[in-house]
Amino acid sequence: MSAPVSMKDYENSARKKLPKSVWVYYSTGADNEQTLSDNCNAFSRYRLRPRVLNDVSKVNLGSTVLGTPIDFPVCIAATGMHKMAHPMGEIAVVKAAESMKIGYMQSIWATTSIEDVTAAAPDAIRWFQLYIYKDREITKQLVKRAERLGYRGFFLSVDTPVFGVPYGLRTTFSLPPNLSYENFKDLDISDGLADGESKHDLAERVASMVNPSMQWSDIAWLKSITNLPIVLKGILTGEMAKRAVKENVDGILVSNHGARQFDGVPATIDVLREIVQAVDGKCEVYMDGGVRNGTDVIKAIAFGAKAVFIGRPVLWGLAHNGQEGVRHILEMLRVEFKTALQLIGNKEQSKNY
Ligand code: FNR
Repeated sequence: MSAPVSMKDYENSARKKLPKSVWVYYSTGADNEQTLSDNCNAFSRYRLRPRVLNDVSKVNLGSTVLGTPIDFPVCIAATGMHKMAHPMGEIAVVKAAESMKIGYMQSIWATTSIEDVTAAAPDAIRWFQLYIYKDREITKQLVKRAERLGYRGFFLSVDTPVFGVPYGLRTTFSLPPNLSYENFKDLDISDGLADGESKHDLAERVASMVNPSMQWSDIAWLKSITNLPIVLKGILTGEMAKRAVKENVDGILVSNHGARQFDGVPATIDVLREIVQAVDGKCEVYMDGGVRNGTDVIKAIAFGAKAVFIGRPVLWGLAHNGQEGVRHILEMLRVEFKTALQLIGNKEQSKNY
């Protein structure tokens, strides 16, 4: 196969390279996958209005997330179990992010511990994605570990009181036996493995810790145990965004979990404007879901996002050739975003395209 030159090429390569069960797990969405296709398609319903003759020889691609400068407004969203895509797993991904000076959000379900990720890429901009588990002590221990390791904030996934029914999970997916959820290895839950219990039992336990009784008051609890910034990941309405602002969160990530949780919810780009308006500048707003090229990025920025996050494209790059593939995915997005900014006629990233 010739070297990939587009996101589609990487996706095709990943489809060929990955074992079928992993490909299905990574690529599919919930139920009938209406929201999955809409996440991408919705971008194409918005049109851009260029302002010509505006000296775009120099454009400013940079942004900030939670006060940290990033080279261009594309960061990496939490996706679980990277070692299923490549032996270097999360380390390949964080190193690619570090080399491009953009942010990396590590999944709680990682196959590399936050300690090993930090050791591999100490200068990377790292955030940790969390759940508030039934046993809050487990969440607290993870928060304290991440704080000690220099993580810069937490993305609390609020769209997972229970797991949705991804098409992929209707197949017989399970974590390959040579891998495990490394962030849980040293916690009490794994100490308690009885004789004869395997890593798969641990995987089931970790999954069962997700908390259907999580509610707004839990945000105050999380704030009470850390001074690091907190972003709510998975807000889809202006009403919920206003509620989040009342809880004094530092940011909102408009996300439908890559359409893996709940089919029939809107495409994220379609609700971004409503949320930005509801928030009215009181915290930062980011988005993820279906971002595949530079014009998608510019549309999200135009609607008021400070940055976008990408999930599956990173997995396709990783599956193709590890760190190099992830880096190339990011480079393509950077070039496309820069070109889009120039063609739209903006030196700065303003909201009026
Ligand atoms: C995810 N996502 C996710 N989110 C989260 O909060 N914790 C997690 O562990 C995961 N794991 C995960 C695995 C896989 C295979 C996918 C595709 C997604 C959701 C992710 O953070 C992000 O919201 C979406 O992936 C963004 O959509 P795109 O870019 O994949 O279209």
